[in-house]
Amino acid sequence: MDSHLVTEESVHSEEGAGTNNVAEDAELVGAIMSRRVLQSLITLEVWEGYCFAEHQIKIRESHDLYGAVMWPSAIVLCYFLDTQRDTYNLLDKNVIELGAGTGLVSIVACLLGAAVTSTDLPEVLSNLHYNILRNTKGGCRHSPSVTELSWGQELEQRFPRATCRYDYVFAADVVYSHPYLEELLDTFDHLCQEGTQILWAMRFRLDRENQFVERFRSRFHLEELYDLPSLSIKLYRASRKDKGRTTRSGQPA
Ligand SMILES: C[S@@+](CC[C@H](N)C(=O)[O-])C[C@H]1O[C@@H](n2cnc3c(N)ncnc32)[C@H](O)[C@@H]1O
Repeated sequence: MDSHLVTEESVHSEEGAGTNNVAEDAELVGAIMSRRVLQSLITLEVWEGYCFAEHQIKIRESHDLYGAVMWPSAIVLCYFLDTQRDTYNLLDKNVIELGAGTGLVSIVACLLGAAVTSTDLPEVLSNLHYNILRNTKGGCRHSPSVTELSWGQELEQRFPRATCRYDYVFAADVVYSHPYLEELLDTFDHLCQEGTQILWAMRFRLDRENQFVERFRSRFHLEELYDLPSLSIKLYRASRKDKGRTTRSGQPA
């Protein structure tokens, strides 16, 4: 077992202080960030490099879009997937990523053998598609798909629950001050069936985000896997509480 994983005792002993052990946090964050690869200065193209799943991954960012730059939560989730692959074996698993941005998490899942559906808003898809193709072409067991998923919109039409069954839903840094938090919750709810696990890396910025976690907790079982105070990031695993579906008020649908 990863010595960095949050255990029940460590969570309880830290209650009140709200922090993980400072030295442990620094060590784990150091290990996570060491997966960044420094780009040579002499190059025509600007990219961000990462080392996961025995591959060097090159990510092109586009600085005019929120979803087209890399956020640290994605690196945290990738590190977890890479180092916990015995426990979270992605081989031949059906995975969907929400708000995939530049695509690092989808790429790593794909390199680890999953069948990945990478989703985001329409304006982000072209750069996402470029990064995913560039880093997975010819080297993956399953060809990834990149498609629009605007939270809360046309979920049953585009992702029917009878046929779209996912082993995992991944999400990194999808909760911040945007007006679609309720739609995001509905999207998790729609995609998460019995047996589906959500792995969600959450960056805390404002109080509103804490409230979202509590609303999320009312619909899903939630377990903390990492607590990284120096990055203000927590990694959660979640699964649905009931076999049926719920409405926004938590009532059966
Ligand atoms: C902070 S970025 C995180 C990107 C990526 N997951 C990462 O960690 O690098 C938030 C992502 O959510 C996407 N997003 C925001 N609102 C959305 C919505 N209503 N429907 C779908 N995606 C949305 C953005 O386009 C962006 O890619």
